[in-house]
Amino acid sequence: MATGAGAGMAVREPNTGKLVIEGKLVIEGLGKRYGATTALEPSSLSVAEGEFLTLLGPSGSGKTTLLQLICGLVEASEGRVVIDGRDQSNMPVHQRDIGLVFQHYALFPHLTVAENIAFPLKMRGRPSAEIAGRVASTLDMVHLGHLAGRFPRELSGGQQQRVALARCFVYQPSIILMDEPLGALDKKLREHMQIEIKRLHRESGATIVYVTHDQEEALAMSDRICLMNHAKIEQLGTPREIYERPRTAFAADFIGISNIFRGSWDGNGALDTPHGRFALPRGAHCQSKDAALVIRPENLHLGERDGNAVSGRVSEIVYAGSETRVIAALGDGSPLVLRLGPDDPVPAIDQAIVAGWARDKAVLVA
Ligand SMILES: Nc1ncnc2c1ncn2[C@@H]1O[C@H](COP(=O)(O)OP(=O)(O)OP(=O)(O)O)[C@@H](O)[C@H]1O
Ligand SMILES: [Mg+2]
Repeated sequence: MATGAGAGMAVREPNTGKLVIEGKLVIEGLGKRYGATTALEPSSLSVAEGEFLTLLGPSGSGKTTLLQLICGLVEASEGRVVIDGRDQSNMPVHQRDIGLVFQHYALFPHLTVAENIAFPLKMRGRPSAEIAGRVASTLDMVHLGHLAGRFPRELSGGQQQRVALARCFVYQPSIILMDEPLGALDKKLREHMQIEIKRLHRESGATIVYVTHDQEEALAMSDRICLMNHAKIEQLGTPREIYERPRTAFAADFIGISNIFRGSWDGNGALDTPHGRFALPRGAHCQSKDAALVIRPENLHLGERDGNAVSGRVSEIVYAGSETRVIAALGDGSPLVLRLGPDDPVPAIDQAIVAGWARDKAVLVA
């Protein structure tokens, strides 16, 4: 096996099988087993310098395991982690150029905000003048200068989380791993902190691997999303690619709202489903006969389109300010979600409706 010199570092992208040469952080065939449990199937991935990559997936899909393997807190069963062209296998955790922020950020209760932030620099034996300067500028970055002398118990949850972020960014690691750092915060604060983290990312230029199981958070924050399921990488791509071109029904269902019709592909331009025979997008192709058609609510309209139509009965109307969603029950009781345009008439509860979609607005998935 190669020793990890920069040149020739290559991994195959999970979706395309395309060879990717180099990256700030390269993961090659990295896997982890605990006895009979596979926490991570051998996985390969390349993260570019300065990229914001999000690991997104349901509970138990292997997100934390992948982070722990990257930083060396857990030993891999196979494969390797390469940072800046150097194999990290024999590199102890504290010598890797990696910062960590976890969900349960343990601030030191007996240290002030400024002392908490200074701590990692002290541990690294930095001169006190440098420490003072860096702590001050990092306090500014997270807008906490006025609270430097307070103790953690005197801060709100969001302020404490900002101290935790500052304590990581202060020593300028070139890679930062964050495991659900906003999990403990309420929705409003979460959204505020998402913007803060994106700003810190921009200002620091750090490469960030961020874990969440919140798909909206992943869509809003990431350069690319690595969608995980059952200890495997399910799909890797930009938020737009994954939203508009999901490769599996799981991906379509996990990210955004989808109407999914399972059925049998005729090998040509149609899918036979219990709800009818539907025209597929032009050129659509699937590996197997068993396939599913995904239609996003914004692509579903009242009335037939391109011969595609399903009928149902309106069960709920959700007015959400900028949009109105209609939820209807299909013949078998399964839900159908469509988003009305601003000028569309709003149907009544219990009204029978027909909804359709332009064939090219649907996606055929495995
Ligand atoms: N130390 C361990 N011993 C045995 N099994 C483990 C260990 N750590 C993780 N696992 C198992 O590995 C799988 C992946 O766990 P992991 O913590 O990576 O999931 P996750 O995606 O981070 O989930 P969550 O969203 O709940 O945090 C799970 O089935 C888990 O039970
Ligand atoms: Mg986890």
